[in-house]
Order: sequence, then C-alpha cells, then structure tokens
Amino acid sequence: MRTMEQSKGMEQAVYPGSFDPITNGHVDIILRGAQLFPRILVAVLENPKKATLFTTDERVAFIRDIFKDRPQIEVEAFHGLLADFVRSRRARIIIRGLRAVSDFEYEMQMAQMNQQLNPDLETLFMMPSARYTFLSSSLVKEVFALGGSVRGLVPETIERRLREKFKAQSESSST
Ligand code: PNS
Repeated sequence: MRTMEQSKGMEQAVYPGSFDPITNGHVDIILRGAQLFPRILVAVLENPKKATLFTTDERVAFIRDIFKDRPQIEVEAFHGLLADFVRSRRARIIIRGLRAVSDFEYEMQMAQMNQQLNPDLETLFMMPSARYTFLSSSLVKEVFALGGSVRGLVPETIERRLREKFKAQSESSST
C-alpha cells in the first residue's frame, strides 16, 4: 500500500543540475534537502548540445561516490524536459539552490515554465550556507584551470578528478 506521502509525490524531491562538477554548495543543498524529504533524487542533465568538462557518466559516478554511505540520496542522469523526468519518477518537488538575487530571474522563469509544463510540480528554493553564495561550477573550473586553489570548495574526490582531467588534457594537447 502506498503511504500518503507516496501518493502525493512528497516522499522524494528531485534536485536537478549540470553538476559539472558538483561543488560543496551543491552538497550543502543536497544535505539540507535530505533533512526535509525521505529521498533526494539528484538528476544530472545529459545535454549533448552543451560541452561539459566531465561526461555524464563521470558526473553521475562522482556524486554517487560522494553519497555512497547515504542510501537516501540517489543519482540518475536525465535528458529532455525536466518536467517529464520528474513526472516519470512520480515526484512533484524540484529543489533548486538560490545563491543571490542574480539567480532569481532565471530560476523564476524555469520554475514557471516547469509549472506550465506540469502543473503538479512545485519548485522549492533553498539557500546554501552563506560561505557558498559565491560558488559555482564554472568558477571552480576557471580558478582550477588557472592554477588557483579550490580546496574546501569542492569535495576532495572532485579536486582529485579535476587534477586528473586537466593533466590528461594538457598531455593530449602537447602530443
Ligand atoms: O545546474 P544548472 O545548469 O543551472 O541546471 C539547469 C537545469 C538542468 C535544471 C535546466 O537546464 C533543465 O532543467 N534542463 C532540462 C531541459 C528543460 O527542462 N528545460 C526547460 C526548463 S525551463
């Protein structure tokens, strides 16, 4: 028998993103979400049109590894419309992190479009810890590529993966 939470689609929340790569700001939101919902499904966007540093499989594997001791947190790749993916998983809640006012307009547009596509959906905005408000995957990649430290901004495994990826890239460009 389905519980009331299950039939209302409230037993899990979907946390979508590109996660190229996951940062400690994302980790913070996932852990906060996990205090509110029995299950968090991290949905990693697979977009063949957008060039990413890490492949979809890599991005999924990294997040699975980070949360391997927390069965409450699941990770899946998705493509196409987020609204369709959320419906296909019988969920209703989308979690998005809001770092600053500058995020608001884009997030509001997305939330409203998703609501238009699937009126059952609710987008829940959560604020990360203040120490991560400036943090983004693109800044992490830029700083790392230019030799800056990203310690404390990404999980240690991601720091290692970044090092491996940039080393592999510089080796292949020098041959
Ligand atoms: O981490 P990001 O890159 O800000 O995440 C953006 C994401 C993945 C949530 C968004 O691009 C998305 O939902 N893409 C799927 C395609 C889609 O549904 N587009 C219409 C949403 S308004």
